[in-house]
Amino acid sequence: MKKDLTIAIDGFSSGGKSTFARAIAARLGYVFIDSGAMYRAVTLWALRHGLVAGGVPDEAALVAALGDMRIELWPDGRVSLDGDDVTEAIRSLEVSEFVSRVSSIGAVREHLVALQRGMGRDGGVVMDGRDIGTVVFPDADLKIFLTADPAVRARRRYDELRAAGVDVSLADIERNIRERDHQDQTRTINPLRRAPDAVVLDNSNMTLGEQMEWVEKLIHSSGKNHKDLLNEG
Ligand code: DC
Repeated sequence: MKKDLTIAIDGFSSGGKSTFARAIAARLGYVFIDSGAMYRAVTLWALRHGLVAGGVPDEAALVAALGDMRIELWPDGRVSLDGDDVTEAIRSLEVSEFVSRVSSIGAVREHLVALQRGMGRDGGVVMDGRDIGTVVFPDADLKIFLTADPAVRARRRYDELRAAGVDVSLADIERNIRERDHQDQTRTINPLRRAPDAVVLDNSNMTLGEQMEWVEKLIHSSGKNHKDLLNEG
């Protein structure tokens, strides 16, 4: 009998989590949820409302506004904020620079974790982020912790941004990635950590196809019922 799993994918920034999570969701007919996009949307909201003066977020004003922000994640991967399509805007370097500060605010995390739990309540979801296997869904059926060399991640992100016509330097990207790794791992609330029951995958030298083969094997080996999900009995 088919059981709709909850799959948690955590790991460092620009490690290919979203691409991998989206591909797994497509393979299983599940919903993909990019939790990082939600932290980015809150950050963009703060920037647009002048609440990040001198690089420091105005916590009180931001927290007071959380209930009024309308963040929507669409099945086609687009993200909207108060009805405005912000899919590209949330990927800007400016948002990337402030998102760690915003995501270390406890009330912001509590608010988004509650929304994420609501989205995954019925299972059949693949959610990627930093604290999915540890905090959002500690009982997830499958937990994957994705890692890759920072230089490899910087190069991938650089290629993506250049392909999208964004003028950036590889050195700036790598610096931002290393800073975010540090901030993600050292923040006091819900730091990036591997859940003890997460399986680690280093994808530095793997294609997406190879990662999919790996996850299919993992699903095969993780339980009899899970094989049905791949429609292979
Ligand atoms: O996955 P990403 O790089 O788009 O995430 C953007 C930022 O949001 C990242 O710097 C850390 C934060 N984040 C978080 O704190 N918790 C999550 N579950 C997802 C993202």
